[in-house]
Amino acid sequence: MSSATSDQHRATEHNPLGVRAIDHLEFYVDDVEKWADFHEEKLGLYRRAHGDASTGLEGRRAIVSGQGRVTFLFAEAQGESEKAQQIRAFVDKHGCGVHDIAFRVDDVAHALREAEARGATVIRPLDDQEGFTAGSIAAYGDTIHTFIHRQNTRTFAPSYVDAAGGVEADDIHIMMIDHVVANVERMEEWVRFYDEVFGFEETAHFDINTGRSSLMSKVVGDTDGYIRLPINEPSSSNSQIQEFLDEFNGPGVQHIALLTSNIIRSVNTMRERGVDFLPVPDTYYDTLLDRVGEIHESVESLQSAKILVDRDRVDGYLLQLFTRPVFERPTLFYEIIQRHGNSVGFGEGNFQALFEAIEREQELRGSL
Ligand SMILES: [Fe+2]
Repeated sequence: MSSATSDQHRATEHNPLGVRAIDHLEFYVDDVEKWADFHEEKLGLYRRAHGDASTGLEGRRAIVSGQGRVTFLFAEAQGESEKAQQIRAFVDKHGCGVHDIAFRVDDVAHALREAEARGATVIRPLDDQEGFTAGSIAAYGDTIHTFIHRQNTRTFAPSYVDAAGGVEADDIHIMMIDHVVANVERMEEWVRFYDEVFGFEETAHFDINTGRSSLMSKVVGDTDGYIRLPINEPSSSNSQIQEFLDEFNGPGVQHIALLTSNIIRSVNTMRERGVDFLPVPDTYYDTLLDRVGEIHESVESLQSAKILVDRDRVDGYLLQLFTRPVFERPTLFYEIIQRHGNSVGFGEGNFQALFEAIEREQELRGSL
């Protein structure tokens, strides 16, 4: 790492913990092999590392899969230790889901100290081994944030064994995590948490009402725009956000948006491999160009891949599509997103269309 890079990311008033990026997302699951396979076969991720008791991990079988700057860690309980029981208790209560949004920082000890001074609860104190330092704080529900720093090592973490490396080239092209969305009971409480603890600013807010169900959303993130965390709150009892809170048994990660450089090819390939996306009515495309103006893609190619479009800037627009919930409970889903030009939005113009699409799903499940 050059000192110039290090200086740019040094903890500052606006980034008091010195957070640089999302390092990885950790999922607690009931079957690690099944869910790693699912993400590798259908979403284009590659096996990067694995570990269990035989490699020195306590209480878990784990697989690390990723593509580009996206890294997912899947962990399943193994044995009867306290760590295993923690994973089991999470999965019993919430079903499979995201347990940890882990951030890479320059100095874990500093990040933990600063976070605690700013009101966060440290739930795992500094752990320093083999050039790898980590420590965690509590966030919404049973979600945590781990701070990680790797010194002179590319290995995922101690006691993990790297998979044989290869070229990660696929028709599904995933570059990085664009945003990670939380569903919570009280949005303002968590907007304040990310402001006070992380120095993250509120960068956008939405109030969506379809007439039948509604939600409020605020986006917090770092000033560089690399970390974007929308936070949703239900504003009606039959809201899809409330349904999530009921099904997940509390606050948690609702969706993860994966940034691609070619959404048409990626989505078509995912669909061929069996990924279920939310249906988009053909009528959506009748007025598309009136709504978003000139775009690079042909309406025909977008309609055939069922991709949504939203213009959020004069010189920028985004393409997006949402999967159906991936785990057994109707909780977590993925968004595939591509941005053109200066796009910084989240598809607000599509919220209405998406919301209605999700409500059609709810109707099928009999929630409305
Ligand atoms: Fe999103």
